[in-house]
Amino acid sequence: AETDNAPPPPANDLATLRKQAEACRLCPLHEPATQTVFGEGPADARLVFVGEQPGDKEDIAGQPFIGPAGQLFDSTLEEAGIDRSSVYVTNAVKHFKFQPRGKFRLHQKPNGDEVQTCRWWLGQELQLIDPELTVALGATAAQSLLGRSMAVTKERGQILESEGGRQVFITVHPSFLLRIPDERHKADERARFRDDMIAVRELM
Ligand code: URA
Repeated sequence: AETDNAPPPPANDLATLRKQAEACRLCPLHEPATQTVFGEGPADARLVFVGEQPGDKEDIAGQPFIGPAGQLFDSTLEEAGIDRSSVYVTNAVKHFKFQPRGKFRLHQKPNGDEVQTCRWWLGQELQLIDPELTVALGATAAQSLLGRSMAVTKERGQILESEGGRQVFITVHPSFLLRIPDERHKADERARFRDDMIAVRELM
């Protein structure tokens, strides 16, 4: 795929940034994807959630966290007393990366270069929103926000500081919860995720 090698000049507001991101060709993922899935939520949100990358449903709708992981995310926020419409929700990587398999498109994990390249957009979003707390949902988000890889299952529940001095709360990705085969284990992990979200609310 054709790519550009430089990001656009920094935007002064989120609407402009979103427009710029729609035309992003900084990495090859723009080509097979339907569209850029930019962040969504109030420009003055105090709380930002960062996922990995849009999934199949998000790629088609153009909105983050609306598929199965998004539904689990929504219900957990609700249980924790966090109003999704008051928070900003985005992803470390803004295009869906997939492998065609028959009539399905199988999610593929973004590689380090893709995360690193797309980090520019996330950095701009955070600079414009300037939230009090950013929540990393899973390892890819944590890596993008903190610039280092980590075991989220070890560091979950902690607040780490990014290079730019941002407070980053670490937790798991809701997709991880969907993939747990054992029902009892799944229920335990969902409860832990809900407890992390309650901790986040109490920090605000
Ligand atoms: N998983 C993510 O990380 N982000 C989405 O938007 C959807 C699923």
